[in-house]
Amino acid sequence: MRKVIIDTDPGQDDAVAILLALASPEDVDVIGITTVAGNVPLDLTARNALQVCELAKRKDIPVFAGCDRPLMRTLITAEHVHGKTGLAGADLPDPSMSLQDTHGVDFLIQVLTDNPTGTVTLCTLGPLTNIATAFNQAPEIINRVQEIILMGGAYFEVGNITPTAEFNIFVDPEAANIVFRSGVPIVAMPLDVTHKVLVTPNHQQDISVIGSDVSQAVLGWTKFYERFDRDKYSSAGAPLHDPCVTAYLIRPEIFSGRFVNVEIETQSSLTLGMTVADWWRVTDREPNVQFMGNVDSDKFFALLIDRLGRL
Ligand code: BDR
Ligand code: CA
Repeated sequence: MRKVIIDTDPGQDDAVAILLALASPEDVDVIGITTVAGNVPLDLTARNALQVCELAKRKDIPVFAGCDRPLMRTLITAEHVHGKTGLAGADLPDPSMSLQDTHGVDFLIQVLTDNPTGTVTLCTLGPLTNIATAFNQAPEIINRVQEIILMGGAYFEVGNITPTAEFNIFVDPEAANIVFRSGVPIVAMPLDVTHKVLVTPNHQQDISVIGSDVSQAVLGWTKFYERFDRDKYSSAGAPLHDPCVTAYLIRPEIFSGRFVNVEIETQSSLTLGMTVADWWRVTDREPNVQFMGNVDSDKFFALLIDRLGRL
């Protein structure tokens, strides 16, 4: 079983990713959640993480607020996708849990220092600001990370926030650059994969049959933000970007991709935040990322619906 820290900016799809992990204690040991500014500002992402833990009846999960802005840039948020709070589509009660006093970055450093090398995995669902800040502050933790499994980037799908950049990487490209160059083993779930896991009306029906508070929330969330992808891409439903990360922890074999070099564009105003993936291996740059390209969507939804039913 993997010991993981989930670093996140909830976001409806982040919320589903967290629920999937918390529903799977036999596969995933969530030792803490760190929040970051991204989809909405930090006060809201932190609050949303607390609400999601309570929805899963896991008040025991420690939640830490991390960085409230990118390393060098002004924060860009995505209320146009996720609504004003980030979790529009389901009304959750005010959280009764409190945030931990420790800063999220300090928690990351402490856990990686205290645990044996190679035993803690970082699952990142938002901009990489917290992880890069921890690596900058305590470089000795870098080679102690077992693996980073992240949602971010795109190659064949190119951009969703600009013509060439995916949101999580675009918000903090300098942070992404630090992480992608860190030497830590990385598995990336780009839009190429996440646009293949769409919540269709049939899936909504399967989710609604669960008949719980959790399933109601997931339905409300996905119905809320599907309009964005339907309008933009004529998609069949809401893409479950971030749940690809937590599904990978449980069923890695349903994903496939290539181990290639991926560099982050940090200079060009035109292509800022692009994940320049050497998919066709046309350079001699060293591979650094397992960059996923495909997923068995039926198996993904079978897993998700089974696990949500357990909460
Ligand atoms: C990513 O950006 C956010 O809007 C989602 O939560 C996901 O992490 C998709 O580009
Ligand atoms: Ca996210």
